[in-house]
Amino acid sequence: RDLSILSGPKTKVWVYEGKLIKGNKEALQILEGSYVGPVIKVSKGQKVRIRFQNDLPEESIVHWHGMHVPERYDGHPQDVIDSGETYIYEYEVMNRAGTYWFHPHPHGRTGPQVYNGLAGLLLVTDEEEQQLNLPQGEFDLPVVIQDRTFDDNNQLVYLENGQMGRMTGFLGNRILINGRPEQRLNLKAGCKYRLRLLNGSNSRIYKLAWEDGSPVTVFGMDGSLLSAPKELSYLMLGPAKRADVWLDLTNKPEGTELTMKNTSFPLELMSGGMMGNGGMMEGAKSVLPQGSEYPVFTVLANASGSNDYTLPRQLAQPDYIDPSTAGNLNAPRQFTFAMGHMEWTINGRTWETTEVADEEIVKLGSTEVWELINGGGMMDNDDDGGGMMDGHGMMGNGGMMRGDDGMMSGGGMMGNMMQMPHPIHIHQVQFNILERNVTDVDPQLWDAVKDGFVDEGWHDTVLLMPGMSAKVIMQFKDFKGLFVYHCHNLEHEDMGMMRNFKIV
Ligand code: C2O
Ligand code: CU
Ligand code: CU
Repeated sequence: RDLSILSGPKTKVWVYEGKLIKGNKEALQILEGSYVGPVIKVSKGQKVRIRFQNDLPEESIVHWHGMHVPERYDGHPQDVIDSGETYIYEYEVMNRAGTYWFHPHPHGRTGPQVYNGLAGLLLVTDEEEQQLNLPQGEFDLPVVIQDRTFDDNNQLVYLENGQMGRMTGFLGNRILINGRPEQRLNLKAGCKYRLRLLNGSNSRIYKLAWEDGSPVTVFGMDGSLLSAPKELSYLMLGPAKRADVWLDLTNKPEGTELTMKNTSFPLELMSGGMMGNGGMMEGAKSVLPQGSEYPVFTVLANASGSNDYTLPRQLAQPDYIDPSTAGNLNAPRQFTFAMGHMEWTINGRTWETTEVADEEIVKLGSTEVWELINGGGMMDNDDDGGGMMDGHGMMGNGGMMRGDDGMMSGGGMMGNMMQMPHPIHIHQVQFNILERNVTDVDPQLWDAVKDGFVDEGWHDTVLLMPGMSAKVIMQFKDFKGLFVYHCHNLEHEDMGMMRNFKIV
């Protein structure tokens, strides 16, 4: 579809064109003028039937991110359908109230398909949430945060920096909110809002803070409301993560403007550091470096109103998994996300459509702890003795470096590139985060981000900074089958930092 996004020529985008066939008309909200969406609203216990018709010029499949659905409805890459085909999803909503989303999942093409516009929200409500008096309708607001780059003709530009962009992940040079460039939410003074933040960016990480210094009040993450709201000086939001943020404009006069900005953290390797290093990034001058300061969106109270929604001190019963019920509490499965020979790997392996290693087989009905490790360039089971940290293997083996003077002059970039954050996502489950181990994280980096993680509640994605690891606990129930887990930096995922696990 051609959309007017910037002034001047229209932009070619790919959209999920939503049509409600049967059901309550509130169940489908179209975000007018946007490529993002639709917003689908469902209740726990409800049965949904969704027909995906692929009118794209290539294979695709839809994945319901965070949802607990049977294998055949999860959007496994092996289930891609061709252009012109349709796929029917039919499942019962079993998840808690929360902010979920959906996007394509074909192997190797998820990054570009999402980038071209394919992503929507799936909002689940349940009885517990309905007992609360949380904002609804126009006061329950999607805020999808993405970065994009447009060329002089207003067309989306993806990975202009080629291979290096694939290694680091895409970073655009401007922020769009709900698919719009205005970065503005027109709201009403006197009212309270639920902002449903989704980091729908391919690989950008946000460190979000209100510019006036007021705390960011978070009351939900990924697949659940928290048991109680939490006030943070800033919120870290990795790719694919969602956060419910409370916004109270009751004592604000009409005309109030409040900006949510990205505040700095020292992680320039994905852009700034590289740009300085020589010829390779020429032409991409205005990239917003990862971890720099820039406005994300502005709330503008350009009207007045009132509502009586409240944020209770007590939200959801979390019903956390009792760690003692995990069979492997003291010997968790370990999965290390690292760079192999110019490839992104998990325990040294990359994506194979139906392959499962022994350590990727779990039992239906079991409760398990997984330790997810951001291993940088180091690989424990490195059988060629090389290791990647010496920068050696890469120069020798990596065809990519050859003959590119601009890149080589960068020197430190090699080491940097392996020190990448990985937002790790597991399909099919919501998990609790038991602990983060940060002893191998650069102290300066940790110091700049440590207050922004909300690990309470139920999650499906955990952002691991370089050197960080996290233990997560989950239950495999209801459905057997082949599911995936992967890095949600979409370029890493497309390059193979994705594996199957099998529930038997
Ligand atoms: Cu949001 Cu497997 O993805
Ligand atoms: Cu998912
Ligand atoms: Cu990654």
